[in-house]
Amino acid sequence: MPKATSIAPTNIAFIKYMGRKDEALRLPENASVSMCLDHLLTTTTVEFSPTLTLDSITINGEQEDGEASRVIKHLDRIRKLAKIDHRAKVVSQNNFPTGTGLSSSSSGFAALTLAGCKAAGLDLNQRELSILARQGSGSACRSVPDGFVEWGDADTSEESYGKTIFAPDHWDIADVVAIVSTGRKTVKSSTAHQSVVDGPYYRTRINRMAEKVQRCKELILAKDFLSFGTLCEEEAMDLHVIFMSAGIIYLTPQSLELIKLVPQWRAEGLPVYFTLNTGQDVHLLCEKKDAKVVQDKLKGLDFVREVIVNEPGKGARMSAKHLF
Ligand code: PMV
Repeated sequence: MPKATSIAPTNIAFIKYMGRKDEALRLPENASVSMCLDHLLTTTTVEFSPTLTLDSITINGEQEDGEASRVIKHLDRIRKLAKIDHRAKVVSQNNFPTGTGLSSSSSGFAALTLAGCKAAGLDLNQRELSILARQGSGSACRSVPDGFVEWGDADTSEESYGKTIFAPDHWDIADVVAIVSTGRKTVKSSTAHQSVVDGPYYRTRINRMAEKVQRCKELILAKDFLSFGTLCEEEAMDLHVIFMSAGIIYLTPQSLELIKLVPQWRAEGLPVYFTLNTGQDVHLLCEKKDAKVVQDKLKGLDFVREVIVNEPGKGARMSAKHLF
């Protein structure tokens, strides 16, 4: 069977998915809205072969043990759909640090889904690919379609997928990512999804989510950057309130130092807002025309190790450049 390679972006959620109503199927408690990031990419090559006796998984040059079982489970889903039994060789490469809150599982499982399905001889449409990617990592369903994406809060697997609400060129905004540490986060997103639901503020959050998702979509449509940025920051703080009230702390002193500078930069006339995921790295949202100034500000901070400027990007796609 011929090998297949795909490239998929990570995505940054403006309104976040946190907590699941179905653990096994990864059905979210609430809808979310995100944007695919054009410079944070995973490339994955998959080959199913009758000569292999075991699945072999290499991520960023290292033979995987820890993540392997999750990847193998996903290969099993693909094998079941394709009605094949061959083991697979999977080689995957991120062009960014893994496990620091840059959502490598979203790009990773989107790329694995597309390359895996093609390599298995399946021809799924975008909706089917997104549904499948979701079962590997929830947010991966939003890395399949292009641009600005909504993932609803449907009650069934068949209805739970990411779809483009605006094309990448709808709005010239940027997500300037500040990497403040290369250490891996200590609590995985999967653990967070399970822990937060019993926290004291979780239901309060959930009750506000439909309205927030609606408002976010309206602000993207209207290209109202200041109101959009304000909403994104409020949402990021809300997410970390529910983390902290469940005993989970992702932010490091460096993350805090940076997010405290953001309102100061605004007061000086730079329209920039932050958002955060399950990790210590900070995403700064600004209009594309201001991305260079934001990048320079970040480069001036000694605790920022790397800065990656992203614009709205395409979703998962095939590539002719195989990794093996
Ligand atoms: O898809 P997961 O299980 O890695 O969870 C993603 C969780 C957040 O990044 C915090 C929110 C989101 O919607 O991307």
